[in-house]
Amino acid sequence: MESGALFKLEVSILKDEVTITLDTSGAGLHKRGYRVGQGGAPLKETMAAALVLLTSWHPDRPFYDPVCGSGTIPIEAAWIGRNIAPGLRRDFVCETWDWMSANIWKEARSEAEAAANYEQPLDIVGTDIDHRMIEISKQNALKAGLEDVIEFKQMQVADFTTEKEYGVIVANPPYGERLEDEGSVRELYREMRAVYRDMPTWSVYVLTSYEMFEEVYAKRATKKRKLYNGYLRTDLYQYWGPRPPRRN
Ligand SMILES: C[S@@+](CC[C@H](N)C(=O)[O-])C[C@H]1O[C@@H](n2cnc3c(N)ncnc32)[C@H](O)[C@@H]1O
Repeated sequence: MESGALFKLEVSILKDEVTITLDTSGAGLHKRGYRVGQGGAPLKETMAAALVLLTSWHPDRPFYDPVCGSGTIPIEAAWIGRNIAPGLRRDFVCETWDWMSANIWKEARSEAEAAANYEQPLDIVGTDIDHRMIEISKQNALKAGLEDVIEFKQMQVADFTTEKEYGVIVANPPYGERLEDEGSVRELYREMRAVYRDMPTWSVYVLTSYEMFEEVYAKRATKKRKLYNGYLRTDLYQYWGPRPPRRN
């Protein structure tokens, strides 16, 4: 062991049992290494990945985030779609420990590289009303190695139209937690419904802490899933569209 090296330990005590854990990661596992910029309320990367995995999305279906902020959900979807290991572009503190063989990491990284499918075609779009967020999304996607993969553009929810079918929408809109924001958030949810009503083959997933969401969206969810966004209790309102027809 390197003399003078500092190690981060966590000690937890439950009744008469003490557990000592050695931190092998360093920065939290949600930090994937691609976030160069963020907006006011970014989702943790791990949470964004979980949302994608909770949907029926498959890489041959269109994927759309209409309120993409710094692009976390589309970026995680692209990595999932191409089977890119989320730790591939970051370091872990134990990589610096001289008593851990460097080969272990080399092998793990080449295994992950071999499993990735960089040729997988994807149709992933992220839009946001705020052009600054679109710039940040593009920078983050560049850092994530996805600059030509995801289409980011400035657009408000109400202006979206599409000819595509069987797509999947995953949205993390503002929640309207401050009383003065409630009116604009309700308006946004109504706009979503007005647009998505005309897209009957799409599946829609909306994460919000706003408890009246279904009333304002004027449609009962197929399923609701309780999730904690940090300490905040939210629900993932799921509106399942039909399955795409099987291809021969
Ligand atoms: C909670 S943030 C999304 C954060 C994002 N998931 C991330 O990880 O960075 C909500 C986003 O909705 C956008 N937004 C608010 N009203 C909108 C509208 N009418 N149309 C499109 N985007 C809107 C905001 O600009 C903001 O970036």
